[in-house]
Amino acid sequence: MKDPLVRALVVDHTAPGHLSLTDVPVPRPTAHETLVRVEAVSLNSGEVYQAIRPETPNGTQLGWDAAGVVIQQAADGSGPAEGTRVVTVGQAGWAELRATPANLLGTAPENADPGALSTIPVAGLSALRVLRRMGSLLGRRVMVTGASGGVGRYAVQLAARAGAHVVAISRSPAQADGLRNLGAQEVHSEPAAVRQPVSAVVDNVGGQYLVDAFASLSAGGTLFCVGRSSEADVMLSTDTLLGAEGPYGRSIHSFFLTGDPTTDFSADLTWLAGEIATGRLHPSISWRGPWTRHAEAVQLLLDGRLHGKAVLDLG
Ligand SMILES: NC(=O)c1ccc[n+]([C@@H]2O[C@H](COP(=O)([O-])OP(=O)(O)OC[C@H]3O[C@@H](n4cnc5c(N)ncnc54)[C@H](OP(=O)(O)O)[C@@H]3O)[C@@H](O)[C@H]2O)c1
Repeated sequence: MKDPLVRALVVDHTAPGHLSLTDVPVPRPTAHETLVRVEAVSLNSGEVYQAIRPETPNGTQLGWDAAGVVIQQAADGSGPAEGTRVVTVGQAGWAELRATPANLLGTAPENADPGALSTIPVAGLSALRVLRRMGSLLGRRVMVTGASGGVGRYAVQLAARAGAHVVAISRSPAQADGLRNLGAQEVHSEPAAVRQPVSAVVDNVGGQYLVDAFASLSAGGTLFCVGRSSEADVMLSTDTLLGAEGPYGRSIHSFFLTGDPTTDFSADLTWLAGEIATGRLHPSISWRGPWTRHAEAVQLLLDGRLHGKAVLDLG
């Protein structure tokens, strides 16, 4: 007998946006996995660039962010009960069904919008976890580069909530009002335009932005490398790193959300879902449509015209 099938968005280099909707085998949950019926997913730049890379094989299932409803509780009782609304992070989430362990799943209020929830996993968790690594932000100047993007918009909001004076960087003047509404107190076109030092940086852009953002750090300040939206590499002089030029004791930290597969994201996902559901956090959805229109969303992202999250509803 043939395996039962579900629809999924998979890599297809012959299709617009390098993705097509196709049939894949129904996931078979292990004893500690919950089966979720996915209602909405969101795109991240990382997986879209993975899709268009020629070396990514056709048929690869992608998708880190997915929100939906539990249709089968984990056999070992580790996850939430059937009918619970959830938000999940992991691999191969752009599909009608996702099997997920309890550490990669957060619960959400019943009335929460699945599309808004689907923006949380990679963007919200990355912002939350990188800011947490900076320690107390109260009264500190914190720069966020790529502030108009998925990670950036969550970082701006959460840093402002934590009491930081947020310095947002966006090349697009049209994004300034929106970023101020999210809590940014300053908006600049590039890190080099920031005149007063900052004590911490969330860098989503890399390249020259990283160099200039590092130069704007005060003594003892820290820069976290989250992304490289510029796709450019960095040249930092040894004197800069020694502290012979500029303030002393500055540091650069790496950040990789999914570096440790055993990380328990459940509490953070649940907290973020609650904040979204009550409106205390804004999901910053800049494009939303049925998943049959995935190619439009991919194109907007690749063209740099998204400025927020793209959400696909499975319907
Ligand atoms: N390390 C991790 O675990 C982790 C987790 C999540 C994301 N990431 C990475 O972090 C980066 C941001 O992710 P995202 O999902 O927020 O991406 P995104 O939604 O595409 O946003 C990136 C933002 O960066 C700015 N930008 C893009 N190209 C630029 C360029 N050439 N020069 C200067 N600014 C540029 C854009 O803002 P403006 O046009 O307004 O300037 C854009 O809104 C990506 O590289 C992603 O792969 C890493």
